[in-house]
Amino acid sequence: MHKVILFVFLLICYSGRLFSQDFKSADLNNSCLFPEQNAHRNLINLSGIWSFNIDSNNVGEKEGWFNGLKQARPIAVPASWNDQYDELRDYMGVAWYEQNTFVPKLWKGQKIFIRFGSANYASKVWINGKPLGKHEGGHLPFSFEISDYIKWDSANKIVVQVENILKLERIPPGSIISEAGFNNFPSANYDFFPFCGLQRPVWIYSLPQTNITDINVVTKILSSSATVEIKVKKEGVATNGKLVLTGNNHKYEKEFSFVGDDAFITLDIENARLWNTEDPYLYDLDISLNNKKEIIDNYNISVGIRTITVSNNQLLLNGKPIFLKGFGKHEDFPILGKGTSYPVIVKDFSLLKWIGANSFRTSHYPYDEEYFNMADKQGILIIDEIPAVGLYFDKNLDQVNERKEMCKQQIRELINRDKNHPCVIMWSVANEPGLRSTYLKKESTDTISFNFFKELINTAKNQDKTRPVTLVGAENEPYQWFSLADVVCINRYFGWYTQVGNIAEGARLLNNELDILHSRFNKPIMLTEFGADAYPGMHAEVSDMFTEEYQRDFIKAYLEVLDSKDFICGAHVWAFADFKTSQGSGRFGGYNWKGVFTRDRKPKMAAYFLKSKWSKN
Ligand code: GCU
Repeated sequence: MHKVILFVFLLICYSGRLFSQDFKSADLNNSCLFPEQNAHRNLINLSGIWSFNIDSNNVGEKEGWFNGLKQARPIAVPASWNDQYDELRDYMGVAWYEQNTFVPKLWKGQKIFIRFGSANYASKVWINGKPLGKHEGGHLPFSFEISDYIKWDSANKIVVQVENILKLERIPPGSIISEAGFNNFPSANYDFFPFCGLQRPVWIYSLPQTNITDINVVTKILSSSATVEIKVKKEGVATNGKLVLTGNNHKYEKEFSFVGDDAFITLDIENARLWNTEDPYLYDLDISLNNKKEIIDNYNISVGIRTITVSNNQLLLNGKPIFLKGFGKHEDFPILGKGTSYPVIVKDFSLLKWIGANSFRTSHYPYDEEYFNMADKQGILIIDEIPAVGLYFDKNLDQVNERKEMCKQQIRELINRDKNHPCVIMWSVANEPGLRSTYLKKESTDTISFNFFKELINTAKNQDKTRPVTLVGAENEPYQWFSLADVVCINRYFGWYTQVGNIAEGARLLNNELDILHSRFNKPIMLTEFGADAYPGMHAEVSDMFTEEYQRDFIKAYLEVLDSKDFICGAHVWAFADFKTSQGSGRFGGYNWKGVFTRDRKPKMAAYFLKSKWSKN
């Protein structure tokens, strides 16, 4: 009898091991540098039409879908799945993607990786039927090494399971039925549609066995010169390196050696041409590794020499006050959902220039890396935000702590990805975190939320000492949080959500509160959101809410208040363009109509007003 029991026990263990597939967690060190193609590195972009199937009963793993999808339909990558098929619009569950690709034999001997620009929300990856890796968090890149999985003489099967179940403990939190009755469908504690899927490009790339794994550039400005401090991280046997910084009719070359896997180099730049919004000058930095005989790897990066600091009243770019004129945005476009679209990115930057804006916030999640490359080149300043929107502090401390750990992971991944972009001038660790937490009020002295943000802001500051850090508060959220922020960032809608129809009263309340906040914190204040819904084409002789005239008058009145203060460092209108939201009684047709441009980027009256105020031409 004992033998039978033992046999059954061993059988269970074996079958359990058979099904328990071990997935590596994504290693932050593998996704620091954007994949580059050069004499030593190769690149395959897997954007295009993949195979796809939903798995509403979550049976795919048990049925072995990772060996290839039996039933499938075409799906575009990068793009959200929601708007590609009507029946997928509100599908917040498990889905599977498949793509097959050769890897050139010429790559043999190199380290080979697969990199996802993002996968919203959680993902597991298989290659040729074997478990590879997993990742949580919907808007930042992750990579896995696939060198040992490659089949060289046939196509390699890549299968990805993506899941976007809306959960309270996630960032941003989902499935909240809030006390304030802001119930929406799909149910989320934030005001944008929970688009999901492989929304950014997917790459396969190769590196030499000895390669540059990370670069960190810090620029400082002295009186008549500047310094560029460069930290190079590598893996493998190279002991020597060389960097060449070219720009402003100068070439700076420096040989360097490594201590372990790290090298630190400082360049003194005479008559540096600084990076700023009027002249976003970029130097070219080329870093190479050699083995004394030949170059074995190199990587190329742009460098903008600039500093960003805070005085007690202003934001200083290169030591001079800068006023941020711009918007809160969204990655949002018809059919694409939150999918990366280069034409939309180019169009949005051309409209930012047209209207005379100099900045935007990546509300409410990290955007595609292409936004930052464009902003570096065009001199647009970016407040870079993690998806900590609507955090919801309640008494369920397990969920609060789970959200806190995910926020810290997202901060680390965000700074890891965007740290070298001169356009990034501030990190935002949260947007309207306490909204709908009924017990939190303006004068709350709540230790749970205060310590929560203290940890987040310290996480950011420990990783990057060169930029201010903030969090964005809504009406009635605790003032105590602003003691932790370098810049007080607030969203206000007096005259829209409250004092409805009464713009003058709204502007008066804003005026009073700004004075109170500045006298309390003696820090620069930025209005990170203000605006009104305007249904495109709706007009009235006497401006009514939801008309284009009301939206213009609201923005005009708020800007007049801001112009009257010397401690305001920025005004971001909410929002750049109309965007898709969950359905709700407060969202006509499932959209937020506060854009000064329509969703397909046509200007409303407010856009012409802002252009008249912000643009020099
Ligand atoms: C909030 C929030 C936005 C939202 C906006 C609105 O401030 O940050 O995400 O879209 O208000 O209600 O229009």
